Amino acid sequence: MIKAITGTKDLLYPETLKWKYLEETVTRIFRDFNYKEIRTPVFEETALFARSIGEETDIVGKEMYTFIDRSETSVTLKPEMTAAVVRAFIEHSLGKQQALSKLFYISPMFRQERPQAGRLRQFHQFGAEAIGSVSPMLDVEMIQMVYDILRSLGLSDLTVKINSLGIPESREIYKQKLRDYLKEKKDKLSEDSRKRFDKNILRIFDSKVDSDQEILEGAPLLLENLDKESIQDFEVVKELLRKAAIPFEVEPKLVRGLDYYTRTTFEIDSGNVGSQSALCGGGRYDLLIEQLGGSPAPGVGFAAGMERILLACENESTLKIPEDKLDLYIVRIDKQLTSEVFEIGVSSRRANLSVDFDYLDRSVKAQMREANKLNTRYVLFVGGEEYAKGQANLKNMNTGEQQLINLSEKDTLAKIVKK
Ligand code: HAM
Repeated sequence: MIKAITGTKDLLYPETLKWKYLEETVTRIFRDFNYKEIRTPVFEETALFARSIGEETDIVGKEMYTFIDRSETSVTLKPEMTAAVVRAFIEHSLGKQQALSKLFYISPMFRQERPQAGRLRQFHQFGAEAIGSVSPMLDVEMIQMVYDILRSLGLSDLTVKINSLGIPESREIYKQKLRDYLKEKKDKLSEDSRKRFDKNILRIFDSKVDSDQEILEGAPLLLENLDKESIQDFEVVKELLRKAAIPFEVEPKLVRGLDYYTRTTFEIDSGNVGSQSALCGGGRYDLLIEQLGGSPAPGVGFAAGMERILLACENESTLKIPEDKLDLYIVRIDKQLTSEVFEIGVSSRRANLSVDFDYLDRSVKAQMREANKLNTRYVLFVGGEEYAKGQANLKNMNTGEQQLINLSEKDTLAKIVKK
């Protein structure tokens, strides 16, 4: 038997109801902030991600689904959206059409990571990108949007962590300081951290190894080595977060796994989803657009993992999805009335009722069982003496009340059921 690929997941009913609900909540809140939807292809030229996320990152180095297609082009299933959105922004000259582009997306992403709870190889993100302004208001707007989405899903065990990564110039000076500090201790670092020392030294802060973290305790911090403007910006971000009544923690060791960030970065963690606790991450990327060949334009954004959010909702038992109900189930009492039942089905569905009936020649009892299972509001019984008189019995499954309907009066049924 062929099974789904490891790290991918089928979404079956009724789980799909939760997804629908999440997507609707997300879309509603993005609309409130005046963000417009963007959809980009599932795959892109590999160079796009390599150049933006960074050659030395885990994503590009180890996790991308990359292959050579039949025209000898190296393509990659998108591991994240920021690069794709920026590519589209440049390609369609969106910067010329409006000074500030506020865009949102909901899309599958692909990373070949070791699967575990909250970590998949095909997962889904919703996120937003605002391109065209350096205002820290947008940094906080990003945090507020995702925070409000998580809160409106009922989640409460949340930690908002913020940091500033400054600009490349101050970061390079800082990296040298960190290298100097760690040089003599390098032999004591874990193998992974030793590799990072050479390739991507900031990411040593992400190490899960205790002895690495002990070594890092006395390390200089980037937040204490920022340029003046980044410090000022960060102060504004903190003040605006307070204005938006969003509790936060400054986390100087928050480095993020993508290379394009400048200044503000953030994550929101849940205390209820196990080790993969980041529900979302984001920040500023003021140099990325230029780096990818566009006219210079600052940007800021975030993306949130939908599987992790739904896991948090499940673990906190917060999602109250409205019950899925069927408006009408038509029970066929006399076997020969197939086309009559079908016809009532046709007109009721065209009157925008959700309707179902039997396709399996089942007994009346079995049809009733099905109607109950489907959570039906009304059942219409077609057949017997009533039908001979051009009528049918309509039962309200909530109250148990029954009434006779004249089948020749085409609108009556829809009118009663719609109420
Ligand atoms: P990221 O931190 O790589 O950032 O991913 C954002 C979120 O996607 C994570 O916090 C997590 O919830 C979810 N996620 C990541 N990998 C997986 C996985 N393998 N399985 C399940 N969920 C996962 C970005 O992707 C950036 N593009 C965010 C951004 C937008 N920065 C600026 N604009």
